[in-house]
Amino acid sequence: MEYTVETFDLTKVFKGEKEGGKRLSVKAVDHVNIKVRRGEFFGLLGPNGAGKTTLIKILCTIIIPTEGTATVNGFDILKEPEKVRSSFGWFHGETGGRSLYWRLNAEDNLKFYAYLQNVPRELAKKRIDALLDFFELSKDRHKLVKEYSTGMKVRVMLARALIHNPPILFMDEPTIGLDTISAVETRKLLKALSVELGKTIVFTSHNMYEVEQLCERIAIMKDGRIIADSSPSILRDMLTDIKAIEVEIKECWSHEEIIGMLANLSIVKKVSETRNESNGLVIRLQVDDEYEAIPIVAERLRSRGVKVASILQVKPSLEDIFVRLTRGETS
Ligand SMILES: Nc1ncnc2c1ncn2[C@@H]1O[C@H](COP(=O)(O)OP(=O)(O)OP(=O)(O)O)[C@@H](O)[C@H]1O
Ligand SMILES: [Mg+2]
Repeated sequence: MEYTVETFDLTKVFKGEKEGGKRLSVKAVDHVNIKVRRGEFFGLLGPNGAGKTTLIKILCTIIIPTEGTATVNGFDILKEPEKVRSSFGWFHGETGGRSLYWRLNAEDNLKFYAYLQNVPRELAKKRIDALLDFFELSKDRHKLVKEYSTGMKVRVMLARALIHNPPILFMDEPTIGLDTISAVETRKLLKALSVELGKTIVFTSHNMYEVEQLCERIAIMKDGRIIADSSPSILRDMLTDIKAIEVEIKECWSHEEIIGMLANLSIVKKVSETRNESNGLVIRLQVDDEYEAIPIVAERLRSRGVKVASILQVKPSLEDIFVRLTRGETS
């Protein structure tokens, strides 16, 4: 089995309501062919309504495809749905909270799901101990879930997805609605599940930063179809016409004014603000010609008393690529 998840012309058409004698239908997933390798961290990106959740639900055997099929852990989703179900853990950031019993403690929640997944009692006991330990919940194992912080609930949900020790995890927007600290914590855990436990992870998110941090390969979906499937760095190399520079600010009077001032320069096409690892301000500028832009930007900032730590020519960001591809522009 070369690929842990593989789809073959997978298609889902939702039949809509009848309107004026015509039945409107939506092709949510349109002849999708993806291949996910064992242990890969695979990101599925796309604008709202692109078909990501539908695709994941088909792989989870929640929705039956209209056409095509897929294999998960080598099992066909149509012919061997039960074997497929024991091969993956599923986590949906938006609805995940509802999948826990808030009036039970973490340990009892996990015991219940272990029972549903037919994990033998003794093995379940050991696994629950190991999972509570891995997710640093051991000391709170007897506390009711409703008393947990959001970050702790997410950790119980992740533990729940892992209770039957599946090789594959389907994670649909796991960080949606989380505050910065819980999101950082969740990303760290997802990385650990991939690196330390070797899980194959299929992941969706609208947060380009986290996709860039986590995913080894990404597929971009639009209108049910896959329009790009590659590593983030290869995608960046594809769009050589997008030129960008990043200015790391050491000291300045007002972010907003500096960003406004740079946005007004005729050589600048787009400005965005990010943070580096040490939380320093980094301003990213999309320009026509980076060699022309660097001295102009440096001089303008110097003349306004801004201290600059560095100005670097950089490749286009995943966001630049995403916007370009999903808008349907070809170059
Ligand atoms: N049960 C359903 N019945 C009818 N149409 C549906 C159903 N589920 C999804 N759709 C439609 O299928 C398309 C794809 O939806 P889907 O939820 O898969 O997109 P998504 O990429 O996950 O979007 P988002 O980023 O907003 O989560 C949309 O047009 C949606 O309205
Ligand atoms: Mg979705």
